[in-house]
Amino acid sequence: MTAAKPAPATSLNVDLGDRSYPIHIGSQQIARSDLAQYIQGQKALIITNTKVAPLYLDALTAQLSGKQVDSLVLEDGEQHKNLDTLNSIFTALINGQHDRKTTLIALGGGVVGDMTGFAAACYQRGVPFIQVPTTLLAQVDSSVGGKTAVNHSLGKNMIGAFYQPQAVIIDTDTLATLPEREFSAGMAEVIKYGLIADSEFFSWLENNVQALLQRDDQALAYSIKRSCSNKAKVVSADETEQGVRAILNLGHTFGHAIETYQQYRGWLHGEAVAAGMVMAAQLSALSGKMTDHDVARIRDLISAYGLPTDPPREMSANDFMALMVRDKKVLDGQLRLVLLEGIGSAVVTADFKLSLLEQILQQTCHG
Ligand code: NAD
Ligand code: GLY
Repeated sequence: MTAAKPAPATSLNVDLGDRSYPIHIGSQQIARSDLAQYIQGQKALIITNTKVAPLYLDALTAQLSGKQVDSLVLEDGEQHKNLDTLNSIFTALINGQHDRKTTLIALGGGVVGDMTGFAAACYQRGVPFIQVPTTLLAQVDSSVGGKTAVNHSLGKNMIGAFYQPQAVIIDTDTLATLPEREFSAGMAEVIKYGLIADSEFFSWLENNVQALLQRDDQALAYSIKRSCSNKAKVVSADETEQGVRAILNLGHTFGHAIETYQQYRGWLHGEAVAAGMVMAAQLSALSGKMTDHDVARIRDLISAYGLPTDPPREMSANDFMALMVRDKKVLDGQLRLVLLEGIGSAVVTADFKLSLLEQILQQTCHG
């Protein structure tokens, strides 16, 4: 699946003053000889899940042989990203007599990463943590930027904290074992960067569909680096989402409604975001902010990566509205959405007609 010659390793920095950290991207990063430098104390707890542990836990543990390393293997799946699982992490930490010098290491996709980060933010009021993301989605998005959270049955990512990791170690070799559906879900967030801030990258993605679907090593490494670079820029400008960072949520108000409606057991996060981005683009066009031609390009690209472009058949317009009003971007009771002003330019705004949103929902929902 991967090309014979791996792309050279590369590093970026997330600039956040004394909370700055590196993102290392490349082949064999789990085997980096300097990995232990990111563990300040003597102890670490690797948090992973039943699917990822058999694949990469031994390799990561071996690389930290000079430290005392425990591991905790969680159940796999978005439906386990909740307070019960978080509590099981705290139990393991207390039972293992972990103190404030312990470093937590998230080995897995965004679910493991978000929960490990939140546990690190809370345990003894904060311990260091490292992200070792193993899905495309986690490598291009969730491991970078310090958003951590768990879901509530009434709403996605409703309980969480901003808490930055010490480092993000992206081993692109781990993508070789990622199922096709999960790979496509990650592409949704890659496409997002083209849409919100990088029209040149969007065109590149249009021209490199086959290379990416075949997981060409060079194409993948380029996409991951460009995505992380886009994300790092936005996070550095607005760490705690007081303003511009919200553009990273393009499609997410619709997507989170889908995930919550399905109680985190239906569509994958990336699939829900993909359909949500098309809905946001349709509303942008109807509001006169972008052309129908651009909406068609967005729909075509999302579809080319095997992602849904319409909401799930079972959801009604009312289902969407009832869940969207709980979105974290709602301020003083007013719904704000990320809309597009063309490909490569996004705006967070409450300045749209509710009747047009309802029109889009009526047109696209069949439930
Ligand atoms: P996930 O963590 O559930 O991983 C997807 C699946 O792939 C799981 O079954 C996992 O066990 C498996 N897997 C992981 N690595 C693998 C590998 N290398 N080989 C084979 N299988 C592997 O889902 P995800 O798509 O990585 O992340 C989605 C989550 O990320 C959502 O909860 C979402 O809310 C969150 N998220 C957070 C942010 C943020 O900024 N914190 C951003 C985007 C998404
Ligand atoms: N994925 C949204 C953010 O990191 O802000």
